[in-house]
Amino acid sequence: LAIPSPPHQHYFGLLGHAPDLDSVLPVRTYWMLMDQYAPIFQLDLNMPFPRVFVGSRELVNEMADDTRFTKFTHRLHREMRAVFGDGLFSAESTDKAWWKAHRLLVPAFGPVGLRKMFDDMQDISAQLVLKWDRFGPEQEIELIDDMSRLTFDTIGLCAFGYRFNEFYTEGPHPFMRQLKESIVESGKRANRPDLMNQLYFRRDEQHRQENIVKMRELCRQIIQERLENPKPEANDLLNVMLHGVDQETGEKLGLENVVFQIPTLLGGGYETTSSTLCFIYYFLCNNPDKLDKARDEVDQIVGDKVLSYDMLRKLRYLDAVMKESLRLQHPVSLLTRFATRDTVIGGKYLINKGQTVSGIWRHFHRDPEVWGADADEFRPERMLDVNFSKLPTNAWKPFGDGLRACIGRGFAEQEILINLAMVLQKFDIEKVNPEYELDLTGQMGVKPVNFKIRVRRRSHRS
Ligand code: HEM
Repeated sequence: LAIPSPPHQHYFGLLGHAPDLDSVLPVRTYWMLMDQYAPIFQLDLNMPFPRVFVGSRELVNEMADDTRFTKFTHRLHREMRAVFGDGLFSAESTDKAWWKAHRLLVPAFGPVGLRKMFDDMQDISAQLVLKWDRFGPEQEIELIDDMSRLTFDTIGLCAFGYRFNEFYTEGPHPFMRQLKESIVESGKRANRPDLMNQLYFRRDEQHRQENIVKMRELCRQIIQERLENPKPEANDLLNVMLHGVDQETGEKLGLENVVFQIPTLLGGGYETTSSTLCFIYYFLCNNPDKLDKARDEVDQIVGDKVLSYDMLRKLRYLDAVMKESLRLQHPVSLLTRFATRDTVIGGKYLINKGQTVSGIWRHFHRDPEVWGADADEFRPERMLDVNFSKLPTNAWKPFGDGLRACIGRGFAEQEILINLAMVLQKFDIEKVNPEYELDLTGQMGVKPVNFKIRVRRRSHRS
C-alpha cells in the first residue's frame, strides 16, 4: 500500500518537502502531519528514498526490530562520526570498539557507580541553588541556560573529573559552543545533498573542523593530566575508561577512543537532560496541585536535612513526575532507524532497503489504549501504579530499547531527582509570565524557548 504523503507547499515540489518544514522546529511539521495522517506518512527530503514517519506503537515496534532495521548507515551518522568517531553513540554495533566501551561502561553507569557519583552531582546542583538564592525573588531566570550549565558541569565532573565551572563564568565554556555548533552543522550537512555541501558550504565545514580540532585538544589535555597525575581514588568514569580492561578481549579502550567518548557522553547527556529538567519544571509550574504534592514529598523525606542517596530512593512522586514528563515531552522527538533490507511494516507498507523510518515520540507515547482518555494530560499519579515490565512494548521508551538503549539513563534520572529535590526543598517557583505556553526550538533535540521562572526562598528555609 502506498504510504500517504502530503501535497508539496513550495516551488511546485521541485525541492521536495524540505522547504515545507518548520525551519525553527522541523518536528513541529511532523507532529502536525502525524495528527493528520496517523499512523504513517512520508516526505521527500532529497534522500534516495522518501523518509517515513510512524506514530503508533505497533509500527515503532517493527522499526525497532534489529533484524530488519539498524540505527546506523544513515547520512546523519556519517556526519556524526566526524565529530564523535567510534565513541559509543556513533560506532556500529558490529564495531569491536563499541563492544569494548559498552562492556566497560555499563557497570560504571550501574547502581554502584551511580552511588559513587552522588556527591559530585549534589555538588553541582548546590552551585545552582546557591546562585538562585543570591539572585533573590525578582530575578528572571532563563531556565534552559542554568539547566545546561548544570548538566554540562555534572557530566564534566562525574565522567572526567573536569570542572567546566559553568556557574562561575560569564558565557558558556568554549567546549559547549564547539560541541553544539559541530552537532548542528553535522545535522545540516546530513540533510543537504553532498554536491551542495561541497559547492556552497565549504566555510561551514572548515569551521566545523576547527571546532572538532579544538574539542579534541581539550579532551587530550584532560586525559594527559589524569595520566600524569593519577587519581586512583576518583569516582569518575575516566579511570574506568583509561585503566579498565575488557574481560572479553583483555584489552583497554585505547587513548584515541577515550578522546571520542568525552564529547559522546557530553553530547548524549547534557541537552537531553537539561531540556527534560526544563519540561519537568514547566509541567510543575502549570499544575500547582502537582507542584504542592512534589514539595510535600520533599518536605516529608528530606525536610531540613541535607539530601542523601538513601532519601533519593524514597522520592517516589518525584520519580513519577520525571517519568510522566518524559512521556509527554521527549527531549529528542524522533527515534530513527534505517532498513537493512526490503521489508513490509504494518502488514502493508513497503520499506526499501536503505530507507529511513522515524518514530515520533509524541505520538507513540500517548496511546490512549495504554494511558487512557487523558493520555495528553500531565498526571504523574498514573506512573505510580504502572508496572513497567507489563506495559505494552514502546508505550514508554524515552531511553530507547535493546542493545543501543541509553547508557546514561540511571545517570540522568539520578541527576534530575537530585536537582528537583534540592530546588523544591529551598524555593517556591513560578513562571515569570503566567500565560506562557511551552515554545520549542531545535533541529534534532528540542528545548524550550523563553521559559523564564522566578524563585523565592521558602520562608522556613535558611
Ligand atoms: C543513547 C535518551 C541522557 C548517553 C540514547 C538513546 C536514547 C537516549 C533514546 C538511544 C537512541 C537510539 O536508539 O537511537 C536519553 C534521554 C536522556 C539521556 C531522554 C535524559 C533525559 C543521557 C546521559 C548520557 C547519555 C546523561 C551520558 C552521561 C548516551 C549514549 C548513548 C545514548 C552514549 C548511545 C548508546 C549506544 O549507542 O551505545 N539516549 N539519554 N544519555 N545516550 Fe542517552
